[in-house]
Amino acid sequence: MKNRYSRKSILCSEKYYGRGFHSPGGYEVLDLLFKTLELDNIENVLEVGSGLGATTHYFNKYFGAQVIGLDLSQDMVDICKERQTSDESKKVEFIQGDLRFTEFNKNHFDLIWTRETLLYIPENERKKVWNNFYSFLKPGGTLAILEWCRERESVPDEVVEYRKTSNHHDQYPHELLSDLGNSGFTIFLFKDLTNLYVQILKDGLNILQKMENEFKKDFTVEEFKALVERVELKIRAFTRRDFIMTLVKAKKYNN
Ligand SMILES: C[S@@+](CC[C@H](N)C(=O)[O-])C[C@H]1O[C@@H](n2cnc3c(N)ncnc32)[C@H](O)[C@@H]1O
Repeated sequence: MKNRYSRKSILCSEKYYGRGFHSPGGYEVLDLLFKTLELDNIENVLEVGSGLGATTHYFNKYFGAQVIGLDLSQDMVDICKERQTSDESKKVEFIQGDLRFTEFNKNHFDLIWTRETLLYIPENERKKVWNNFYSFLKPGGTLAILEWCRERESVPDEVVEYRKTSNHHDQYPHELLSDLGNSGFTIFLFKDLTNLYVQILKDGLNILQKMENEFKKDFTVEEFKALVERVELKIRAFTRRDFIMTLVKAKKYNN
């Protein structure tokens, strides 16, 4: 799997997402997500696809947990490490690795969290990923996922092209839920957050457009235009429900 992010493109998107994020909505959305997930007694967390680390640090602040952030992109991991204080690095560790092949201790984590990352995993490789997650979790541990899914096969050309260029393999929610069930998980919560996601994309776009001049101090006009066009396409696609955004909470009960 190719890493599609360069350091420059990471920092360019961060201007839109907010410091430490590589997905929209910032801390307001994190607060909402973790209130909805109703998690407690969380001591060890694995974040898979940790991006620029804001959520990874959030787990330490929110739960007081020991956290590992795993990401494929060496640049993402380097930026996280550069920004970390030595105190923070005792509680929050960033590791470069591919989620399909990175091993952790069995029965170790209370929570595995992943957001907008699993859609990069092709269908024939998902089963191994679910089995790994299951084995890394403690009995009673939780897998929580915020992920792009699809609702139908027929979508406009711009979405077909977007999927291809972004290397996305979004799946149907019923496939996701049955894959999790087949790997031993019990589903606790399934929520369609598409409307909320459209709203946060729009709010982010408004902010981005207001900071056009500031943005152009560090990036080119073309980079600004490309970012705006990408966000506008996402807004159209999620509004039409070519993509949907789903939140899942699943638990491991057995050993
Ligand atoms: C859209 S970003 C989301 C980042 C973060 N979850 C957030 O919400 O800010 C997707 C992240 O997944 C990472 N990623 C993609 N494929 C991966 C893989 N096979 N293993 C680990 N990380 C991966 C990318 O490098 C990127 O940082």
